Amino acid sequence: MNDWEGRYQRGETGWDRGGASAALTHLLKYLEPGAHIVIPGCGRGHEVVELARQGYRVTAIDVAPSAIAHLQQQLEQADLHAELITGDLFDVRPDQPFDAVYEQTCLCAIAPSQRDAYASWLHQGLSDGGLLFALFMQTGCAGGPPYHCDLLSMRQLFDQSRWHWPDHEPLLVPHKNGRFELAYALRKKADGNE
Ligand SMILES: C[S@@+](CC[C@H](N)C(=O)[O-])C[C@H]1O[C@@H](n2cnc3c(N)ncnc32)[C@H](O)[C@@H]1O
Repeated sequence: MNDWEGRYQRGETGWDRGGASAALTHLLKYLEPGAHIVIPGCGRGHEVVELARQGYRVTAIDVAPSAIAHLQQQLEQADLHAELITGDLFDVRPDQPFDAVYEQTCLCAIAPSQRDAYASWLHQGLSDGGLLFALFMQTGCAGGPPYHCDLLSMRQLFDQSRWHWPDHEPLLVPHKNGRFELAYALRKKADGNE
């Protein structure tokens, strides 16, 4: 699976901001106090630490043991808690629906052939009306990872029969590596609820 563990071990982690993304400030506007938020492909999890610090219940998933070990250490040092899962997100079946997902460049790490499965995984895991705060990676290039998440494809993937899209323009979230993400706060529609 793209040798994510090897990338962490070799220090090839150009995506890592070294701290929580500025996008969190915007995410927080949408979260109820104490909400249960899931972060798939959390990496070293700077956002996990910050959300735990702010009192949210966080479940963080990553396939790379080194990334999760780093996150665990950060949480312990700060005397904070989050549920950490090491493994393939597709193997994770939550007992209860979660309130929100923070999707920060996990989608762009997944092969395009798996995107439909990922969108279904997100939809099944969220409660009705639940928030999908998605940061769509813009590379403008073919190939990957990271795979370009062009907005037309995103609107097809997160289609309007299952997701509510906001009317306003997305937030542009820059990265020091020169790429940027476009942030949208989508809401899961209840089945059959247009
Ligand atoms: C581009 S990195 C982003 C990491 C983190 N969200 C960040 O912004 O720093 C993608 C992450 O997704 C993880 N990942 C890729 N495929 C995965 C899968 N199927 N299940 C769980 N984690 C996965 C990788 O190990 C990696 O940490």
